[in-house]
Amino acid sequence: MDRRETGARLEALRGRDDFLILAVETSCDDTSAAVTRGREVLSLAISSQTEIHRRFGGVVPEIASRNHTCAIGAVVNEALEKAGVPASGIDAVAVTYGAGLPGALIVGVSYAKAFAYAAGIPLMAVSHVRGHVAANYIADGTLEPPFLCLLVSGGHTQLIDVRGYTDMVVMGETRDDAAGEAFDKTARVLGLPYPGGPEIEKLAAKGKASIEFPRALRREKTLDFSYSGLKTAVVNYLREAELRGEPADPADVAASFQKAAVDALIRNAEKALKITGRDTLAAAGGVSANGCFRRELEALGKRTGVKTIVPPPVLCTDNAAMIGVCAYVMIRSGEAAAPPSLDTAPSLPTA
Ligand code: KG4
Ligand code: ZN
Repeated sequence: MDRRETGARLEALRGRDDFLILAVETSCDDTSAAVTRGREVLSLAISSQTEIHRRFGGVVPEIASRNHTCAIGAVVNEALEKAGVPASGIDAVAVTYGAGLPGALIVGVSYAKAFAYAAGIPLMAVSHVRGHVAANYIADGTLEPPFLCLLVSGGHTQLIDVRGYTDMVVMGETRDDAAGEAFDKTARVLGLPYPGGPEIEKLAAKGKASIEFPRALRREKTLDFSYSGLKTAVVNYLREAELRGEPADPADVAASFQKAAVDALIRNAEKALKITGRDTLAAAGGVSANGCFRRELEALGKRTGVKTIVPPPVLCTDNAAMIGVCAYVMIRSGEAAAPPSLDTAPSLPTA
């Protein structure tokens, strides 16, 4: 089947909302596949490599790609089986082509290209960040742009004005570390395993947010974020406490760090709501699985009368379901299929 025929197949899908997408996501250390229909997730399979990378204290790119290669076939089969759909029943393939680790992305992109070519169906190239945003279309079946989205993951911290399904403007972003990166680095300083976000959250539950860590850029007009100073402040606090001979309580440090990190996110989101006048604030990315963040976001909604949406934790962290639903809104918005020469885009910008 040539490109013209797959193009015609894609055109035929645009007016429908019941077609089936097989989505593949391999941008970091989770191998994931899903079958979606419209905004509905028929199945989601995730093979996590967390245990493999934990002993290195972070994701080792080469090991991640090798494990994606080993897992991808079984993960796709699991997604098809769970959905009760044969490979021949799939109408389009969606794949994350960036941003992410080059060697990890290439596994998913190669697999998706081969699947689409063999089946003669269109392939949609999906941005990982836009996929995270799309997790909110699953969480709230009625959500439509425009809305604001706070994207907080291991690689990104951005305030995104979602003006249309495929039209986004980044209003603010981190000048140094991403929020998730700050959780991971601070966890390491506290001797906690990778990934640090959930570990900090568990430890913080046992402590008090009694230490005043600095809030960077608080008094500035910008909607940007900065997290490297917060991590340094934690390092300095621990060192000074040790020099004084009064070791700090790690649970209090974790709770205070978490509060400072979340405060910065909520403060800028509130500023952006005022500037744009948007009435809906969505969240996305691994850090939005954090309980403290979710509570503060809800409180912001109550305080300002703005509707807030946070996907369930499994859809906050990396997963293929969000990629499938992102491809669905792209198809419905008239986006073109990817060419057979599709390459990965490890540094793909959000907008
Ligand atoms: O979106 P994600 O799964 O992958 C990227 O695209 O980066 O985000 C992973 C990040 C990691 O930094 C991880 O520590 C953080 O999300 N994270 C959390 C929590 N769960 C995951 N951070 C804080 N609290 C959590 N419960
Ligand atoms: Zn992600």
